[in-house]
Amino acid sequence: MQKKTHNAHSPETLAAQALGWIDEDSGAVVPPLHLSTTFERAPDNSFPSGRSYARADSPAFNQAEALLAALEGGTEAMVFASGMAAATCVFLSLAPGDHIVAPQVMYWALRDWLAKASHLEVSFVGSNTADFQQALIPGRTRLVWIETPANPLWDITDIEAVARLAHQAGAQVAVDSTVATPVFTRPLALGADIVMHSATKYLNGHSDVVAGALITGENSDFWQKLKALRVQFGSIPGPFECYLLARGMRTLYPRVRLAAANALALARRLGNHPKIAQVLYPGLPEFPGHEIAARQMQGGFGGMLSIRVRGGEDAAIAAAAKLRLWKRATSLGGVESLVEHRASVEGPDSPCPRDLLRLSVGIENVDDLYADLAQALG
Ligand SMILES: Cc1ncc(COP(=O)(O)O)c(C=O)c1O
Repeated sequence: MQKKTHNAHSPETLAAQALGWIDEDSGAVVPPLHLSTTFERAPDNSFPSGRSYARADSPAFNQAEALLAALEGGTEAMVFASGMAAATCVFLSLAPGDHIVAPQVMYWALRDWLAKASHLEVSFVGSNTADFQQALIPGRTRLVWIETPANPLWDITDIEAVARLAHQAGAQVAVDSTVATPVFTRPLALGADIVMHSATKYLNGHSDVVAGALITGENSDFWQKLKALRVQFGSIPGPFECYLLARGMRTLYPRVRLAAANALALARRLGNHPKIAQVLYPGLPEFPGHEIAARQMQGGFGGMLSIRVRGGEDAAIAAAAKLRLWKRATSLGGVESLVEHRASVEGPDSPCPRDLLRLSVGIENVDDLYADLAQALG
């Protein structure tokens, strides 16, 4: 693979050309699928390709990882078999008894896993800087986990302020930036040490790949530990998933910008609908985290919003049942719009209100999307 470095160009240019890599052998502008699990050793016993075995060093990872590192402004990236594999790798790198701080409002399956992770002492906190500050134990807290906007209430956390406090206390900072994407937020530039993505969502964008990613600002000892763990756990994506991920990222910027423009337009219109009690969207001026989001998110507020339906849980589920265009399905970040009653998924410990529907806004015509919601709400 011949690398054409375009690092002076803007992120949308880097993404559209997937860094402009050309396959040396064929001249192809799309990389070949590398399926080999093993790599030849030279007579002198060395590995001239720098690779020995695909669990450690598959060339299938390279383009997606290099592009992700470039888009997040990091030094290196690692792709994983899923977002959960990426996130749990970070927590499993910590020592037994380590203290961590994580938000109460965050991706529910990870919160559930953390609550049961017996090797760690976890303080779950609100999304404000003061909440994180109170929970930090200087010298003992090893990691602060941030998710912003946070699923499914879209709480906003000030990455820069929390990272400063966390570093003063001697803790590392990791940010689940799945919903913000590098299109709107670059956590490393705001002081985070690690960025995590469920690449299943916007990065791939077509609901046909399960994958995850970590990106680092520095090639630190912590990063080296995470790299070793990925090899040991074997939590790697297959070559076809890597190929689809790199392909999906080529359209990341136009997809995500259009989804966010649709989400903002829907949030504004739904706010006036008589059947809706509340719209939760960081782009609305009345949303509690709006000011921080406006500073921290460049050029948009993301494609995710939630609505609280008048009449409670039954009314919310009944409205979702009447949708024709929106698909009732879990997940988010694809080009098609999805709706989900999150409380049904998250169970009794969920901070999610029972009357809430989560909307993952796609790139369809926004009038079509609104009309379907309006007819379903009645
Ligand atoms: C914000 C967020 N983080 C992490 C994950 C987990 O990612 P995956 O499903 O790829 O394991 C999800 C999945 O829904 C998510 O929404």
